[in-house]
Formats: sequence, structure tokens, C-alpha cells
Amino acid sequence: MKILIIGSGGQIGKAVSAAAGALGHQVFGADIKSAGARFALDLADMGSVGKVVEAVKPELTALCSAMTYVDGCEKEPDLAWKINAQAPGGLAAVCLDTGSRLVYLSTEYIFDGKNGPYSETDPVNPISVYGRTKLEGEVRVLGRMKDALSIRTTVVYSFDRAGNNFIMQLIDSSSRGVEMKVPLDQYSNPTYAPELADFILELSMAGKSGVYNVAGADRLNRYEFALKACEAFGFKKDFLKPVTTAELKQPAPRPLNAGLKMDKLLADIGKAPAGADKNLKFLRQKF
Ligand SMILES: NC(=O)c1ccc[n+]([C@@H]2O[C@H](COP(=O)([O-])OP(=O)(O)OC[C@H]3O[C@@H](n4cnc5c(N)ncnc54)[C@H](OP(=O)(O)O)[C@@H]3O)[C@@H](O)[C@H]2O)c1
Repeated sequence: MKILIIGSGGQIGKAVSAAAGALGHQVFGADIKSAGARFALDLADMGSVGKVVEAVKPELTALCSAMTYVDGCEKEPDLAWKINAQAPGGLAAVCLDTGSRLVYLSTEYIFDGKNGPYSETDPVNPISVYGRTKLEGEVRVLGRMKDALSIRTTVVYSFDRAGNNFIMQLIDSSSRGVEMKVPLDQYSNPTYAPELADFILELSMAGKSGVYNVAGADRLNRYEFALKACEAFGFKKDFLKPVTTAELKQPAPRPLNAGLKMDKLLADIGKAPAGADKNLKFLRQKF
């Protein structure tokens, strides 16, 4: 299948590109110019997005680009709205015109984190600009294209030297012996990017549509996750400093008691992502 991956230089985009390539699909990567992809586009400029989709004429488009810096969205809400909310809706319209299905990457940050873990049908209530704009992106995609797929995920990690995900930050802090403050009160399901990518493709190839949660099996707070990573990598744990989210004084509020339920995935395709211990072991083999 001809697959266009928008955000091919990002963490999830890289994983989806690798997984799709391994399955023998024809993969076309697109990203903002600085990310060095074959096709350059900017979600803030729908003209550039339309040109790439029309040039590639994909059967499936995976939107793995967004303004992902949660605190940055708080500081630049108009730009976040343009990229996270308007662009996905515009892309859905372009995909409809060119005959491509669309898979959108959504987030547990569309919930307030008062009573997680959440199923696909639980009421949403985002508490940050990132969460509000990502939710609007999901609503616009699903509203425009009836067979579009929205995958909600959370705390995605992978071994990516160029990346800045939680595990890469932990590896960096440990190797430099620098203290890492880790919140004790943010609960969610850490998700291994290569496994997420496999599920994104499997759901897409199975013709599934609507919303699916895809996240790791274990619901952990960040400190618990950091401890597991240290165990898996053989790191001492003394550089980790458990703190509350309030102590971090981050500009954007975080959903604390969050996490995602995997019942729908299990019911529909009979499997769900593994837990953190297994995936941290895979990751350990990469460095
Ligand atoms: N990572 C997570 O834990 C997580 C959890 C839930 C949902 N998601 C969603 O999953 C998707 C992918 O996340 P990710 O973690 O892979 O993000 P990422 O690593 O930050 O990658 C995002 C990619 O989008 C590119 N990009 C930024 N602004 C753009 C623009 N205006 N036009 C085109 N491309 C642009 C980035 O380029 P630059 O690097 O040059 O800026 C980067 O290549 C996002 O929709 C995100 O909201 C992620």
C-alpha cells in the first residue's frame, strides 16, 4: 500500500515509517523542512500540505505531526490551534478529495485526569491548550471523514538519539549524573513507539475507523516508570528526584489521574500492547 507519513522525522512518524517499510508498504515521508524529509510541508500552510498529498496520491495518510510541546502550546495558543486543530481538518478534506484514508494521532490529554483510566466513550474535558487543540483536531478529522481512524495514546517512548522522549531524558540524565525531577502524581500508560506503530498499521489495514485507545498495558506514575527503566538498564536510581507536578511549575496543567483502557482494542483485534518491563528490555538492547 502507498502510505504517506506526515511527521516522518518525529518519534512516532519514524516508528510508523519503519514498521510500514518492514511490511513491504511503499512509504513516503513528509515533514517540516528542518526535519529533512523527502517531502517538505508545513501544517500551518495548507497549500504546502495539499501539494504533497496530491503529488504522492497515497492510499493511507498517517498524521504524525503536531505542535507537541505541551508547554509551548500554552505560550502560543493561536499557532497551536492552527497546527493541531485546523490543519487536521484541512488534511481530512484534502485526503477525501484524493481518495486517501486518514489516521490521526490523538492523546489522553483530551481528558482532565480526574478519574482515569479512560475508555474511548468517556466524556472528554481537556485542561490545556495542547489538549483542547488536539481534541478539536480529532473532532474535525472524524467529522469530515467517516472512515478516518483516531488513535489515542500517551507517554510514548523509544530509543531515539535525536529524540527527547521521557526515556531518552532519563538515559541522558543518568549518564551525565544530573538530577532528574520526576512527578509522582502523573498516572498514565507508557507506550513503546515501535509497538504503537504496529497497532496503528494493523488497525488501518483492518479497515477500522473511529476512536481507538492504543497504549502500554501498565498504568504507572512517572516515578514508577523511571524506576522500572533504571532496573531494566542497570542504572543507579539516586539521580531521580520524586516530586509533585505542582513543584515542577509547568506552564500547562497536566491530567494527573489519567491513563487509557484497552478493552475496545482487545475486543476488536484480540490483543493489546505489552507492559513496560517487556518493552524496556527491547529498548535496552538498542544501546
Ligand atoms: N509522544 C507522545 O507521548 C504522544 C502522546 C499522545 C499523542 N501524541 C501525538 O502523536 C503525534 C506524533 O507525536 P511525536 O511524539 O512523534 O511528536 P514529535 O516527535 O514531536 O514529532 C512531531 C513531528 O512533527 C513535526 N512538525 C512540527 N511542527 C510542524 C508543522 N508545522 N508542520 C509539519 N510538521 C511539523 C516535527 O518537526 P520538528 O521536530 O522539526 O519540530 C516532528 O518531526 C502528535 O500528533 C502527538 O500529538 C504523542
